[in-house]
Formats: sequence, C-alpha cells, structure tokens
Amino acid sequence: MLSVVTYPNSILRKTAEPVESFDDDLKILLDQMADAMYVKDGVGLAAPQVGISKRIIVVDIGEGLLCLVNPEILAREGEEKVLEEGCLSLPGVRVDVSRPEKITVAGFDEKGGRIEKNVLGLNARVFQHEIDHLNGVLIIDRLNTLQRVLLKSKLKRLHETA
Ligand code: CO
Repeated sequence: MLSVVTYPNSILRKTAEPVESFDDDLKILLDQMADAMYVKDGVGLAAPQVGISKRIIVVDIGEGLLCLVNPEILAREGEEKVLEEGCLSLPGVRVDVSRPEKITVAGFDEKGGRIEKNVLGLNARVFQHEIDHLNGVLIIDRLNTLQRVLLKSKLKRLHETA
C-alpha cells in the first residue's frame, strides 16, 4: 500500500514530470493510487502525494473512479464559488477555496487514449485541486490574508511533527 506524504514534504512543492510511457507500471500505479485514496476516504489524489513526481491524478467523488494522466485544464467557465476543502497531505486543515465551477479538462487514460471532459460542481473542484498538486500548489496557497493568519499555528504544528 502506498502511503500519503504530508506537508511540508518537499515533493509536494515540485512541478511533476509528464508521463511518457503508458505501460504496465502505469496501470499498477493507478490502481495503487486509487487504493490509497479509498483507504483514506479521499475524493482525489495526485501522484506527488504518494511520493511520485509524475503528472497523474485519480478522482472519485462517489460517481466512479476517474484516472487522468498528464491532465490539463483547457478552459475555466462559470462563476467562482467558495467551498471548504481539505487535503490528505494537510491533515487537520480545512479552508475555504474559491474556484471556477466549470472546467474543460483533457488528458490521457491508462492506455494513452485521449480524454476530454467538461466537468462541473464538486468534480470540477476536485480536478482543479489535484491538478494544482502537479504544479506544486497546495490549498494553503489559495487563501486570503485573514485565513492565512488563522492557519498559522496549525501549519507550524505540521512543521514540528514532520
Ligand atoms: Co490535496
């Protein structure tokens, strides 16, 4: 079982590398990432969160598993909505994050087949959160100043227990 790495592990801050070969190792990794997500009751997981700096995400908001390799956001639409988010790599942290409610996302399935999807609502939020991870971005980077002040002691604790 893959274990989830937590803040302030430096891999969470790296820009992840694109996947180049769609081989059996990739399939195994996708399965293992899905298992790691389900065990933690997560709705999404990005490969850097299991210590692998590759552009791979898995998402399941309760509507079935979606795996996306080398994902890209092609378009953002609709209003920005604020909703509380957590992150398996930031235990105990829940913060309000503003994000567009509709996106068009593209990428590849495990066999290298091209996927393009319009996603909205919670799915759109989770895809954006996980794609942020591939760029070294965490929810704590998307806060306003007040939220950042309120969170300071929690983050300090995570640094101390690391
Ligand atoms: Co996260």
